[in-house]
Amino acid sequence: MPRRSLTRAVPIVAVVFGVGASLLAAQGAPAKNPLEGDPAAIKAGMGIFRARCADCHGVDARGVRGPDISRVWAEGRTDSGLFQTLRTGVPNTEMPSVGARTSDVEVWQILAYVRTLAAPGPADPPRGNAENGERVFRANCASCHRVNGKGGRLGPDLSRIGAARARDAIVNRIVGAAEGSRPGYEPVTVTPPDGQPIHGVKKNEDLFSVQIMDSRERIQGYEKDKMKAVQDDKKSAMPPFGSDRLSQSDLDDVVRYLQGLRGFDPAVKQ
Ligand code: HEC
Ligand code: HEC
Repeated sequence: MPRRSLTRAVPIVAVVFGVGASLLAAQGAPAKNPLEGDPAAIKAGMGIFRARCADCHGVDARGVRGPDISRVWAEGRTDSGLFQTLRTGVPNTEMPSVGARTSDVEVWQILAYVRTLAAPGPADPPRGNAENGERVFRANCASCHRVNGKGGRLGPDLSRIGAARARDAIVNRIVGAAEGSRPGYEPVTVTPPDGQPIHGVKKNEDLFSVQIMDSRERIQGYEKDKMKAVQDDKKSAMPPFGSDRLSQSDLDDVVRYLQGLRGFDPAVKQ
């Protein structure tokens, strides 16, 4: 691959001629990670990654709350594109920018470390049939979830779920094996002094009041000291879809459909 050796050569040439700094300043970030394979950089990057990225992407980079990032190179992302993604974050998603206080060197250290976790090839060939998955979704899920402007609001909008989550995380959530709920969707039950308990998801809470969306999508605030009880529930407001409700092939199909939902295209992808 001649292109690759060319980009690899640029930083070396720059260093040899002692014009590294001015070249970088003129061109922005180098095309290729100047610290790739550097043991000290990898070690430093591991520390930063574990402290600041692993919560969302997993210590193995295979994804937890955020997507699998071990395959970004196999899928064709470039070092300079990834550098940019870390610098700017992905606007309007949970992916934060590393922030101005993180130096360029640190960003390259992080990427040098993630590179050591990289999977050799693209993900397993996708299985399932997205068309049938969409039907399964309409029948079982759309009452609570919106996709591209259509559907219910009790659960989160899933228009970009395919970019935002690893496959395993999506599967675990559907079958009820995931823990915790996304902020804004935590299950809660409010019991008024003279009425039936109201189940819903928590939109807001402070010391004195709680605001919930109930299963009919009505949002209402309650003063806590006027209620008989306000209780955080253990069970998600999303019912688990075990094999009794969803066959393995319907599960594969609906997951395939969700993996294809990538919503808007944030301009930072390059
Ligand atoms: C709060 C959770 C969270 C944290 C912390 C976080 N990320 Fe992300 N990251 C995400 C999400 C969600 C996405 C997917 C955004 C989208 O495109 O919808 C993402 C996307 C990415 C992508 C782009 C993947 C692609 O396919 O293009 C990279 C690379 C990445 N993150 C690296 C990192 C690194 C490195 C760190 C630590 C410095 C980090 N992230 C911290 C949640 C997080
Ligand atoms: C009764 C409403 C309801 C139904 C029906 C429902 N969900 Fe959910 N779903 C929720 C709620 C509420 C959440 C957020 C709380 C949580 O994550 O536990 C959620 C979360 C999710 C998430 C995680 C989103 C994220 O940001 O990580 C996925 C994926 C998902 N649902 C998929 C599905 C699929 C697929 C179906 C149908 C097979 C379905 N849901 C049916 C209410 C529902």
